[in-house]
Amino acid sequence: MKNFTSVEDINDLQSMIKKALEIKENPLAEPNKGKAKTIGLVFLNSSLRTRLSSQIAAQNLGLNVLILNASQEAWNLEFADGAVMNSGTVEHVKDAVEVLNQYCDIIAVRCFARMQNKEDDVNESILSQFLKYAKVPVISLESATRHPLQSFADCITITENWPFDRLTMNRKPKVVLTWAPHIKPIAHAVANSFAEWMQNMEVDLVIANPEGYDLDPKFVKNTPVFHDQNEALKDADFVYVKNWSSFEDYAAIPEVKGNWMLTQEKLKFTREAKVMHCLPVRRNVELSDEVMDSENSIIYQQAKNRIFSAQTVFSEILDELS
Ligand code: CP
Repeated sequence: MKNFTSVEDINDLQSMIKKALEIKENPLAEPNKGKAKTIGLVFLNSSLRTRLSSQIAAQNLGLNVLILNASQEAWNLEFADGAVMNSGTVEHVKDAVEVLNQYCDIIAVRCFARMQNKEDDVNESILSQFLKYAKVPVISLESATRHPLQSFADCITITENWPFDRLTMNRKPKVVLTWAPHIKPIAHAVANSFAEWMQNMEVDLVIANPEGYDLDPKFVKNTPVFHDQNEALKDADFVYVKNWSSFEDYAAIPEVKGNWMLTQEKLKFTREAKVMHCLPVRRNVELSDEVMDSENSIIYQQAKNRIFSAQTVFSEILDELS
């Protein structure tokens, strides 16, 4: 694995999940694997889980960890090629990444969609600059269109909660990715990425969202899309709750009829589905307290698995460096 920015960077998802579950059993099995190597974790946006789980994963492998909360602590970056930097930006991303090359053996970066220009976000205008200038492997800690470490953790979590290897289970789990309400426009990365990774799992995926909120067709592919949430939830085994803004009318939040918040009442349509969310969650907006705190919720398990998705990816990259 040279870089890790999407599911396409891995050869075999099932063997990666198996490796992650082995690491989870014994996370300190290779305490010197990253010895004398340094990973730089660069955050252009806020984080709790990604920042801390990546730090734990790196430490478990003996990596030195540099953390730069760039949006608060570093110089204001310029991303435009050829920019005349006579205004608000202080350092060009080219120079920043060239310097990170001097300090780090691996660069991991979080760079959300800026939600101002659809073309910039769809083309990963920030991540692509890191990939262009980095001379060491680059790992996405969530970019404009994808959140691969989250999606990998989601695959691990679904595997733990479904008896894929039991011969008596003669059907695939039904997984519903459902839109949920929010108070402001939210990017598409988690939803896109979840769809993309589920399309590589032995599951029956459907997507539920209101009219006007269809995801980028590049990520939906042949996945059935329902505009009726209750219909989509029928017989679900897993329900993944997430908000996103309109893709077609980019970053708009068109009015939605009906209540899309996931409640215990709605879970009655499912097969006692396990409920997932990447966090952070707006309680009683996206899903109810009742659901969040119920036995159906595997949301904290998902958050814990962020450590093992990151550790598996760091370990694969270290194999490439050694
Ligand atoms: N799910 C997730 O990526 O959480 P953070 O934004 O807190 O890192």
